[in-house]
Amino acid sequence: MKKKSGVISNMSANTMDTCTNLIRNAKKIVVLTGAGISTESGIKDFRSKTGIYSLAPEYILSLDYFYQHPKEFYQFAIENLYHPEAVPNKGHEILAKWEQEGKVATIITQNIDGLHQRAGSKNVIEFHGTMKTATCLNCGKNYSTDEMLSRMETMEDFYICNNCIANNKLEQYIKPDVVLFGDTGTWFSMAGIQTILRYMQEADFVLVLGTSLLVAPFSTFPQYRRQGVPLIIINKGETPYDFGQDTYVIHESIGKTMEEINNQLHP
Ligand code: APR
Repeated sequence: MKKKSGVISNMSANTMDTCTNLIRNAKKIVVLTGAGISTESGIKDFRSKTGIYSLAPEYILSLDYFYQHPKEFYQFAIENLYHPEAVPNKGHEILAKWEQEGKVATIITQNIDGLHQRAGSKNVIEFHGTMKTATCLNCGKNYSTDEMLSRMETMEDFYICNNCIANNKLEQYIKPDVVLFGDTGTWFSMAGIQTILRYMQEADFVLVLGTSLLVAPFSTFPQYRRQGVPLIIINKGETPYDFGQDTYVIHESIGKTMEEINNQLHP
């Protein structure tokens, strides 16, 4: 069967029309987002030329590095991953609107910035956790990242929980509630993955925004949509899915593209 797909870099009319019509008639869009939807809120992504990994290797965001160098880990994470000042942009706001209009079933995000919720989206799965809080690995006491910031200013071993005692200090480390490389998160459980796969199976199409789709298991999710269900990717960079079946790719900025589509939905 001839592949129905359109890879465009200049938002050619027919692919834009196809995407707009899919969204117009949708009742259960599953949206997969990554760091690229937050760059227009002033937050660096990871793999673009000026992304976070142009400052340090991926390894710095691994569980091993956290255990070996907790102080340096926190310094890097607070500097590059914690953005309480950032505000949602057009892309976040339009997704929240489409959820209110009954189009978006859920957003599964790799982002830890909380901007989807701040834009008003209710059904958000933070697959890689959140940078807002941290938890003692031993007793489970929860700390806000703002609390960790004040501990960093006043305490030598700010990353060690003083709410509990453990034989080995490592066990008392307070770890940000983000999923690191070599780590797992709440949604990585069998139940969590099953919930996500159910969303993918029920989707009437899948919208990918601002992710290179390179990090598993998140990057495998588009494969679980039903046969024939379209995949729309709005992403400046290429992804491994760009030339797949029933795939429409727009290599443009998310804010601009989403606004164009939304304007066509609400002339
Ligand atoms: N509009 C459209 N696309 C954009 C924009 C924008 N304004 N800004 C950036 N992009 C695209 C980039 O071209 C890139 O392809 O967003 C993509 C972001 O990809 P990555 O930087 O790899 O970020 P992401 O896919 O979210 O990374 C996944 O890797 O480092 C780990 O756990 C971390 O969750 C993260 C995961």
